[in-house]
Amino acid sequence: MQPVVLWRGILAAGLLALAPVQPSAAEPDAGAAAWAANCAKCHRTPSRILYAVPDTTDAGASARLDRFLAQHHATDEAERAAIIAWLQAQASQ
Ligand code: HEC
Repeated sequence: MQPVVLWRGILAAGLLALAPVQPSAAEPDAGAAAWAANCAKCHRTPSRILYAVPDTTDAGASARLDRFLAQHHATDEAERAAIIAWLQAQASQ
């Protein structure tokens, strides 16, 4: 490899390392972050509680889940809404 090419490679690698870490489109959003902060210490993954997560068209069950979570480690309303939306996205996959 010629020295100039090598330097270009090193420079490119350096720029990549400096680039801010972007969340991938499918992954962490506010709900995922809130889940990680408030829920993951007990629920390692959402898989075992997805049975309790209604789909988005079931407003009644979604409201029940919201009331449950208000007393279950998610007191902040906006955070709770984000978690529920995230859980519903997990459930629909
Ligand atoms: C301190 C541990 C702990 C934390 C933190 C915790 N959970 Fe739980 N969770 C449990 C346990 C234990 C159960 C099963 C017993 C029960 O239903 O209370 C449960 C049950 C559930 C259920 C099922 C309820 C049902 O109707 O069967 C859901 C949904 C749930 N958790 C969501 C969450 C979410 C979302 C968070 C974060 C905001 C969270 N949990 C934080 C311990 C925890």
